[in-house]
Amino acid sequence: MPKQIVLLGPPGAGKGTQAKILSKKLGIPHVSSGDIFRENLREKTPLGILAEGYINCGELVPDDVTVSMIQERLSRPDCEAGVLLDGFPRTAPQADALDRMLRKKNKGQVNAAPCIVVPNDVLIERLTGRRSCQNGHVFHIVFNPPKVEGICDVDGSELYQREDDTVETVSRRIRVYLEQTSPLIDYYRQQDVLIEIDGNQPIDMVAEAVYAAIAEL
Ligand code: AP5
Repeated sequence: MPKQIVLLGPPGAGKGTQAKILSKKLGIPHVSSGDIFRENLREKTPLGILAEGYINCGELVPDDVTVSMIQERLSRPDCEAGVLLDGFPRTAPQADALDRMLRKKNKGQVNAAPCIVVPNDVLIERLTGRRSCQNGHVFHIVFNPPKVEGICDVDGSELYQREDDTVETVSRRIRVYLEQTSPLIDYYRQQDVLIEIDGNQPIDMVAEAVYAAIAEL
């Protein structure tokens, strides 16, 4: 099975939801750049303070900051067996940097890039109804509700709405995705590792489709 995986797709496509399922199935860590930024933001580290302004207005954190953060994460022992990246790379320079990192670690190149495709109106509905807990577990008030309203099923903590999940910021994030991240679809297509997945179906069906497509590569 491919073990250097990049999960692509617009904000709200379900990357985080699928990455959690897939990382368990494949036995590789789920590394989410957004989760790492939010963890730093909660702990008020210099990285979190720097990233906050960009995140809350729906813009990308500068490449140099993001690349060194991911480089540090990928250098940890749990990434030796492979990694499932969610939210990184998001720009051409980030994709180049990832290629260099993998080469340096003798890991070859990205060997699967599933791209979850969902129409824009569905993305807005998903993101404005999303509720998350501090530990990264994600729900939706309609499509994936917690058993008890406002409480995380997994760890019992309180659920909150992300500041960047307002209609206005979501629209900006989608625009930023189209301008800066969607060119990576062709980048990975040219490397023969792109898999397009219909993300507009129930979570378990998307999960099956992603797993089957990766296994086939
Ligand atoms: P990040 O956290 O990466 O946000 P994103 O890419 O915008 O993705 P989301 O987390 O919003 O959505 P998702 O695709 O993971 O969907 P989810 O599974 O949660 O980034 C946030 C910010 O950090 C960026 O804007 C930027 O500022 C900064 N940043 C991060 N990485 C960066 C980088 N590399 N470079 C620079 N800046 C960076 O699902 C969404 C909702 O839908 C949930 O409620 C879920 O329950 C529901 N759902 C999921 N699947 C389904 C389904 N099949 N059917 C129905 N509902 C579903």
